[in-house]
Amino acid sequence: SRTIKLAVIPGDGIGPEVVAEAVKVLGAVTARDEVTIETSTFQLGAARFLETGDVLTDADLAAISQNDAILLGAVGGVPGDPRLKGANIERGLLLGLRFALDHYVNLRPCTIYPGVTSPLTAPGVVDFVVVREGTEGPYVGNGGAIRRGTPQEVANEVSVNTAYGVERVVRYAFEVAQGRERKQLTLVHKTNVLVFAGSLWQRIVNQVAADYPLVAVDYLHVDAATIFFVTNPSRFDVIVTDNLFGDILTDLAAAISGGIGLAASGNINPTGRFPSMFEPVHGSAPDIAGQQLADPTAAILSVALLLDHLGLTDAATRVNEAVADDLARRTETVRRSTAEVGDAIVTLLTDKVLK
Ligand code: NAD
Ligand code: IPM
Ligand code: MN
Repeated sequence: SRTIKLAVIPGDGIGPEVVAEAVKVLGAVTARDEVTIETSTFQLGAARFLETGDVLTDADLAAISQNDAILLGAVGGVPGDPRLKGANIERGLLLGLRFALDHYVNLRPCTIYPGVTSPLTAPGVVDFVVVREGTEGPYVGNGGAIRRGTPQEVANEVSVNTAYGVERVVRYAFEVAQGRERKQLTLVHKTNVLVFAGSLWQRIVNQVAADYPLVAVDYLHVDAATIFFVTNPSRFDVIVTDNLFGDILTDLAAAISGGIGLAASGNINPTGRFPSMFEPVHGSAPDIAGQQLADPTAAILSVALLLDHLGLTDAATRVNEAVADDLARRTETVRRSTAEVGDAIVTLLTDKVLK
């Protein structure tokens, strides 16, 4: 039977709470399959830094890289915590992993499931996917400041966009679009202001489009895209965009599709050279941490993306269906704990497995 080595990084805040439910679901869905999941847990994040001073050591990275995939909860302390000053957990750990493991595709689906209340009055059928570039843009950190702390301070953030980096993520987005029913790809950028990066993205999309004649391509400026996310989200099928726009748009996508507690993501290295990493879109939510208030659905749907990536498509479908069943049964009046939601999904899943 196949053995899958999984690195689990629970992280900070609600991370360990939602990951516990995700691991529960993973165990339930693979219990009867010809597959064994061997998990190794890595205690990384703000809590670990406060204890040891380490964020992500070479030894951590080497050990994590030995796995077939990574499941991550969320990392990052309370924004503004003075004890974390100078230790950027998000940059050192999360971006550290995304960059070291070359996660150039950051895949973030947005679906309004039947029964889920969207804050939009008539959103229509919403089922799109954002292909966010994952290793470039301002996230590279090639900025700098001069005359720091003076009234003449100049702070520059440099957004890095390489032809190589843009092409590979654009190509991936075309592949995703071609595999979907509507086959529609929207490039989102800000070509009217960001002329150098904008022109690169637009040219590469135009070039790659020639290889995908079945895919219809259009373009939106990012500000206009936010309008359509709210007024007409069903117009989208696949969106391809840069790292920063993709970050912002996917929190908005989460909000319109029923909440940040439902939004899953995959940090993917499509070449298979490095393990891909799956995590909810949300952060460590210090405001609700440790109280069993977090919705683990985003983490559980991230497990579905993980299974799909590993080729365990039946198991992925079963997780998706169990989540959809649970979402359809949710009511406004009953408030469940994090573990109760996880248990309910495991029960629905087990029923399906036995069927
Ligand atoms: P956040 O996503 O943690 O929280 C934003 C809001 O959403 C909060 O009100 C929170 O309670 C709510 N929320 C988030 N997840 C939820 C869930 N599963 N169920 C119910 N409500 C949920 O964003 P933030 O407050 O900007 O960031 C907090 C920390 O997390 C920061 O240190 C930030 O850098 C970090 N962060 C980490 C990741 C990651 O590890 N992938 C992602 C985003 C933010
Ligand atoms: C996300 C997060 C991260 C990002 C932060 C914590 C670095 O917001 O995964 O969406 O900006 O990518
Ligand atoms: Mn984000």
